[in-house]
Amino acid sequence: MTSAHHVPVLADAVARLAAVRPGERWVDCTLGFAGHALLLLEAGARLWGVDQDPEARAHAAELLSAHADRFTLLPGNFRDLEALLRDADVPPVDGLLADVGVSSWQLDQAHRGFSFSHAGPVDMRMDPTRGETALDLLRRLEVPTLAGLLRTYGEEPFAGPIARALKTWAEGAGPHDTGAMAAVVQGALPRKAAATRTRHPATRTFQALRIAVNDELGALEALLDAIPRVLAPGGRALIITFHSLEDRLVKRTFAGWTKPAAAPRRGLPPPPDAAPAFALLTRKGETADDAEIARNPRARSARLRGVRKLTDAERRAA
Ligand SMILES: C[S@@+](CC[C@H](N)C(=O)[O-])C[C@H]1O[C@@H](n2cnc3c(N)ncnc32)[C@H](O)[C@@H]1O
Repeated sequence: MTSAHHVPVLADAVARLAAVRPGERWVDCTLGFAGHALLLLEAGARLWGVDQDPEARAHAAELLSAHADRFTLLPGNFRDLEALLRDADVPPVDGLLADVGVSSWQLDQAHRGFSFSHAGPVDMRMDPTRGETALDLLRRLEVPTLAGLLRTYGEEPFAGPIARALKTWAEGAGPHDTGAMAAVVQGALPRKAAATRTRHPATRTFQALRIAVNDELGALEALLDAIPRVLAPGGRALIITFHSLEDRLVKRTFAGWTKPAAAPRRGLPPPPDAAPAFALLTRKGETADDAEIARNPRARSARLRGVRKLTDAERRAA
């Protein structure tokens, strides 16, 4: 097993914005192939690493074994971050990183069911020990709901015909593997649309189902909710997203934290704790340059946003 499968995305920007000081406590909410984790450890961090995928955790633990004295694995979903840190007696952290979504390694594993190019079970769960598979989801949802999901999470313009075709296929005799599913999606597209798509015709559908199966937006929302409580004053939170819905959520949440908690009334002194609690570390978000995209095409849609929790002194001075 090598780490060649996964190049950590936006590594330079992560290192610069993290600005790790030796001994600082950091939590990596999405260990994956441990690329960012290694970067944080090499900068001197004391690191806790979360991942909901048992296979990813096993690889990460192996890759980080040289740093075992400063690294602790926290199995679980980052939607439960606060409880995971509390149960492990971790005090408020100086930094938090989340590089959300699936890893290239997960996409390449046929048996996980994320890939249309390697036929496997129609699963797509990042945590294969719980929840329903993509095939269960296709069987449970009605066509209009399925179409809405493909439209929202996949921005799929042909969501209606694809949803109808997938529903018929899921309830039929099969075969029910990801290769067959990709062929069903391709067959449901108007011929011209299938021929002119630059990516595989099933990319949008697979992405939408994966986001739904893993409730990726719900998990991100829960993580964002926990950040103000788990960060120590002066702590940084860095989040990398790959989808405009996720980025919008991060952008709006961060922007909300940088506004004053309560507007002063005219003629009165500002209420206590009215000052903003956070400052933005990024305005528009950091994106990959052409060289990184050439090395790692997945970096094309990555966007990194960061905030820093202000100290009490900074809030008083604001
Ligand atoms: C894009 S990869 C992270 C790659 C990592 N930053 C690296 O440098 O190798 C995302 C990882 O986060 C995990 N993950 C995604 N959503 C999660 C969640 N809600 N809770 C815990 N782990 C999650 C996935 O299982 C996957 O291993």
